[in-house]
Amino acid sequence: MRLIKAIDYGDMSRKAANIVSAQILMKPDSVLGLATGSSPIGLYNILVERYEKGDLDFSGIRTVNLDEYKGLGGDHPQSYRYFMNKYLFNRVNIPIENTHVPNGLEEDPEKAIADYIKIIRSLGGIDLQLLGIGNNGHIGFNEPGTPFELEFLCVDLTDDTIEANKRFFASKEDVPRQAYTMGIKAIMHAKKILLVASGENKAEALAKAIYGPVTPDVPASVLQLHNDVTIVGDEAAFSKL
Ligand code: GLP
Repeated sequence: MRLIKAIDYGDMSRKAANIVSAQILMKPDSVLGLATGSSPIGLYNILVERYEKGDLDFSGIRTVNLDEYKGLGGDHPQSYRYFMNKYLFNRVNIPIENTHVPNGLEEDPEKAIADYIKIIRSLGGIDLQLLGIGNNGHIGFNEPGTPFELEFLCVDLTDDTIEANKRFFASKEDVPRQAYTMGIKAIMHAKKILLVASGENKAEALAKAIYGPVTPDVPASVLQLHNDVTIVGDEAAFSKL
């Protein structure tokens, strides 16, 4: 595990953007596993700037997102499809059909799971998986206690997560109670993993993930078992290491 210490959010975003840019340059048909949340927004903005300057080409890139709220369609402003279109896909030259986000409107979890596993497999594996981390150590929407061996699943969101994510919704009641997420098994199959974390509210989860026991109680702790993980954190996020 490689730990890269950044000064603040901007520095974290630049350092992480360098790693993603290098991946795109070295392998222009890369499969990128992408994440949402406030942590990667700065990184996406930098990728867009580099694309606008002519330094990055997304025409051969394929993407597969980690997760989506169950019940939200792509036109809902809080859906992760909407987020990805807004912050990245609509601003670079990636063919939209090369981008994949779980279908939040699929009501049947069995079908949602089978469909997305098929997509992940058809892409031939993820070259670089980007992750954030939840305050409770979740990655994607794999909440504490989720078994490691699932490839894709429908989860009940914990109160911690609903509380943390309500800032994006009109009220806590509007936050969906369930989500679809790539499981730990699919995340661990990525060739490389890049996790970004900023702020003191991530410090404890990050310390447990990096130095604590590997346990489903701290989903991100599983990353200790992957052979190519880079964590870029700012000073506040690394303050409890
Ligand atoms: C959300 C997402 C995760 C994200 C995490 C942290 O619930 N499902 O993929 O990493 O919470 O979000 P943020 O970066 O906004 O703190």
